[in-house]
Amino acid sequence: MKIITTIKGIKKEISQARRKRLTIGFVPTMGALHQGHLTLMQQAKKENDLVVISIFVNPLQFGPKEDFRRYPRNLKGDAGLARTAGVDIIFAPSVKGMYNNAFPPERPTGRAGTFVDMPNLTNKLCGQSRPGHFRSVMTVVAKLFNIVQPDIAYFGQKDFQQALIIRKMAQDLNMNLEVKTLPTVREPDGLAMSSRNKYLSIMERCYANRLYRSLLKAKGLILSGEKNSKKIIKAMRDTIKTIPGNRIDYVEITDPETFERIERIKNRPVLIVLAVYAGKTRLIDNIVV
Ligand code: PAJ
Repeated sequence: MKIITTIKGIKKEISQARRKRLTIGFVPTMGALHQGHLTLMQQAKKENDLVVISIFVNPLQFGPKEDFRRYPRNLKGDAGLARTAGVDIIFAPSVKGMYNNAFPPERPTGRAGTFVDMPNLTNKLCGQSRPGHFRSVMTVVAKLFNIVQPDIAYFGQKDFQQALIIRKMAQDLNMNLEVKTLPTVREPDGLAMSSRNKYLSIMERCYANRLYRSLLKAKGLILSGEKNSKKIIKAMRDTIKTIPGNRIDYVEITDPETFERIERIKNRPVLIVLAVYAGKTRLIDNIVV
């Protein structure tokens, strides 16, 4: 397994692989790897000759008051885990290398630079409380796709909105790759795995699985015939409110393709999606029913 830190270096590796006609699977990450990430890598290994991952904590996608500076970073530990998952190349660029100073992290949108955006989808759900987040995710992922030129890129359903936006971006911009979304990997008690779970206090961690429980409650209600989204959301909020120190960002039932709110549930799949602070930690989760 190689660790490569420059764009020039990774492009050289990629063109060598291309010459050998190897297929490339790609998993973009921000590191602090856990089983959720590793599952994507293992699937990439099954389906491709070469597996490339990126580890890059992208300053642009963090708001000014968010956790960019304290986001967990551990390249050595990550490299060990990635190796066990069968990764061939880790691309771990510096902020300067990726943005050539066009977007200084302390003033991310201050200077001119190219952005990719999809306002209809990036402004909804998480986009409402994290303005600019998704266009920054789209931009960095577009850059990574151009650098790594994968055949297949892998994303997790845990970040449902992100995965859909990236899949649509690849289609809309005629990018030459397939975007696959794999199911959310959960802790034994149901909590969706996340690098941010490390921030939770013992007490917060104990109660955090109630987010998933609220999703299962909603699923149960829908399967037993409840059509009124308001009632379902009320039941979910009642569960979530028993988490000490919780602050609900949003709980919504939407169309899984457009993120438009659904008031009455019909015979079509719905996305049940939430973002909740447990103390200072923002947790997200979703299921499709
Ligand atoms: P990060 O949060 O590190 O996640 C990297 C990938 O792992 C994403 O596709 C995410 O959905 C997936 N993932 C995280 N937790 C998961 C879980 N419990 N089960 C399944 N998949 C999971 O998402 C990002 O990084 C960044 O926004 C990025 C796309 C790298 C752009 O900077």
